Amino acid sequence: MVGAGYVGLATAACLAHLGHRVVCADVVEEKIAALSDGIIPIVEEGLDDLVSEGLTSGRLSFVVGASGAAKGAEVVFLCVPTPQRSDGSADMSFIEAAAREIAPVLASESIVVNKSTVPVGSARVVEEFLRRVDVAVVSNPEFLREGSAIHDFLNPDRIVIGADDREAAMRVAALYSGLGAPLVITDPASAETIKYASNAFLATKISFVNTVANVCEAVGADVHDVILGIGYDTRIGFEFLKPGPGWGGSCFPKDTLAMVRIAEDAGYDFRFLKGVIEVNEEQKDIMVGKIRRAAGGSLAGVTIALWGLTFKARTDDVRDSPAISIGSRLIAEGAAVRAYDPTFANAASGHADRGRSPNLEVLPGALICADPYGAVEGARVLAVLTEWEELKRLDFSKVHELMAEPHVIDGRNLLNGAALKRLGFSYVGVGRS
Ligand code: UDX
Repeated sequence: MVGAGYVGLATAACLAHLGHRVVCADVVEEKIAALSDGIIPIVEEGLDDLVSEGLTSGRLSFVVGASGAAKGAEVVFLCVPTPQRSDGSADMSFIEAAAREIAPVLASESIVVNKSTVPVGSARVVEEFLRRVDVAVVSNPEFLREGSAIHDFLNPDRIVIGADDREAAMRVAALYSGLGAPLVITDPASAETIKYASNAFLATKISFVNTVANVCEAVGADVHDVILGIGYDTRIGFEFLKPGPGWGGSCFPKDTLAMVRIAEDAGYDFRFLKGVIEVNEEQKDIMVGKIRRAAGGSLAGVTIALWGLTFKARTDDVRDSPAISIGSRLIAEGAAVRAYDPTFANAASGHADRGRSPNLEVLPGALICADPYGAVEGARVLAVLTEWEELKRLDFSKVHELMAEPHVIDGRNLLNGAALKRLGFSYVGVGRS
């Protein structure tokens, strides 16, 4: 496994759990030292147990440098980042560096698997980097959600494998035997497209429901009931129809832009997906607008409390988080932002004297608070931006007392609006009041 990030680490731990011998490499020495001691650098449910299980059984080990992991391996997974370049395209330099490093040590008849989300045509590009006719390159995209990556790996909806060489495809498929998932075996370009199209479709569902929520607000309907009514239609389903402050994270924003770019390079103007992305940006403006209105029309000098900074609950990841983008816009309009997120609570309490520390520069200009009550002190508006379950169980009478004015904008429809209104709050959700 080349790369011990979210995908590489989860895949390595799960493959070891399935009985394979896995050597996982990364370029960051401290990370490898920590992982070898069973210390996990990310928040991911169940990952620590699987890593300890792998270390104890001897089936999982960690090394510095890709070649150490690739030497003698039957299958080498490339799980390195493909960050977004300024033009929206995917940066392939980590893939290139990894491929060039492993090329000389690869065993004859071994297989190199692209697991990173890579532009369509990358399997060919990796073949060129490797220059090894005796090594097959296979595309095997991942569909793991942060926060439930282990569950998703062990209970996949499908396994997608793209290969020109059928035998290589079957050898990769065999690694997952026992998971009982349908197998989609196709050519590399189709497998690579499946990954982008899956993420683009899921992002489309969320943008769709966010626009429906906006319509609900305009016509006085309740989006919750509307989703119930449409979701029971098995052609539609309930998944990925939760309205919110817009989608974020390390995949959807990057992959939707990359797909637009890939299509453009191939001569197709993917206007539909551009609209999906645009709707997502608008959704953040709509949230800022709601907060501004609740604050009385202007944010200048107004204290605003934010609950939630990560892009979704049960992760410590703030990459492309709508909460960060909304928080930054509030600060730019002159608001004094006090934020709380369970992920950063410990770090904040360690620096309670200053209220913030260098590693809390997650939202520059905001005060990061150690607990949710601290965040609402003196606030005119409280905005909920991440769906952390624990926020539901707080003492809202206390919250009411602490706030300067009791206005709640619930960007995740997380709280009980009726109960809050009974306590004297004004409450505005998404697509419902
Ligand atoms: C996603 C894909 O789900 C996964 O298959 C792929 O491999 C990586 O990208 P992830 O980024 O971890 O996974 O998060 P996901 O749970 O899909 O949520 C993405 C964003 O959409 C989050 O900001 C989330 O809050 C938002 N979302 C999700 C909604 O607003 N409403 C929903 O109904 C679902």
